[in-house]
Amino acid sequence: MVTAAEELGPVPDLWKRRHLLALEDLSAEEISLIFDKAEVFKRAMAAGQRKIPVVTGKTCVNLFFENSTRTRNSFSLAARRLGADTVDFSASTSSLSKGETFIDTAKNIEAMGIDLVVVRHHTPGAPQLLAQNLNCGVINAGDGPHEHPTQGLLDILTIRQRCGRVAGLTVALVGDIAHSRTARSNIWGLKKLGAHVIVCGPSTLVSPRWAELGVEYSYSLDDILPRVDVLNLLRIQFERQTTRPFPSVREYAHLYAMDRQRLAKTKPDILILAPGPINRGVEVTPDVADGPHSAILEQVTNGVAVRMAVLWLILGERAPVK
Ligand code: NCD
Repeated sequence: MVTAAEELGPVPDLWKRRHLLALEDLSAEEISLIFDKAEVFKRAMAAGQRKIPVVTGKTCVNLFFENSTRTRNSFSLAARRLGADTVDFSASTSSLSKGETFIDTAKNIEAMGIDLVVVRHHTPGAPQLLAQNLNCGVINAGDGPHEHPTQGLLDILTIRQRCGRVAGLTVALVGDIAHSRTARSNIWGLKKLGAHVIVCGPSTLVSPRWAELGVEYSYSLDDILPRVDVLNLLRIQFERQTTRPFPSVREYAHLYAMDRQRLAKTKPDILILAPGPINRGVEVTPDVADGPHSAILEQVTNGVAVRMAVLWLILGERAPVK
């Protein structure tokens, strides 16, 4: 039997990156490489292989300045399943509250001897700043409303697995497009792989300027429903908004919540995604979230596999130079 480590082989030459900062930076080939390797990890885990020790001895730090359930645990699990050690940093209990700067905090943690930082921060560009100032690898786990590359990757991998392809599909991102890093990462990744993207939501959260990124925009979910293959339902990011973008959550749900009536207007094999956390009854009703079209929990499973692939590509053994 071929083990997952044998199936992986050395890190391919195509991968030259020390950091994963944004899907905007990646080529279609690099994205497909991550997906192919994530599938190796997913298969191995489904077959009961809990440890695939291909980055043993490396240390990863989770540097999270914003709350997280899925992303943080998923990165920790991914690193441990690869045999790496993990350290969890929590901003609220750190010396930041004593006045230490972001860069000083990160440099001090790096000085303890680590190989990779997974960072989530409310300021766009914070991971790029760390990549310029530290000597270790950096992965962006969400920088304010800018990008969340591994979320984009796990969403698109789920589409590839469920639909058998990405090119030629019409994917609608619905909700708070203005403040969603998931939206930006999805747009870059989906466009590179040849999908048609529609951003949809209230006009206060969807600017016509999104068309400059080569996407279509719409204010009416009901209008676009019959022609979409995939719906990615994004949470309203109240914590990033300075003014209320609509009169009430009830009105938003009336126009944009994916419910049974709307499901009846879609293609019969519609795929429904949501990055989580979902607010039941706001962007999606429980019957749809838990129904057969939803791949919400599959996204979480794919998240671990995608993060294992990215960690391995950055930290794994390369073929010896001949
Ligand atoms: C997303 C995030 O943090 O940007 N969640 C996640 O990573 N699973 C989306 C969100 O918070 O709505």
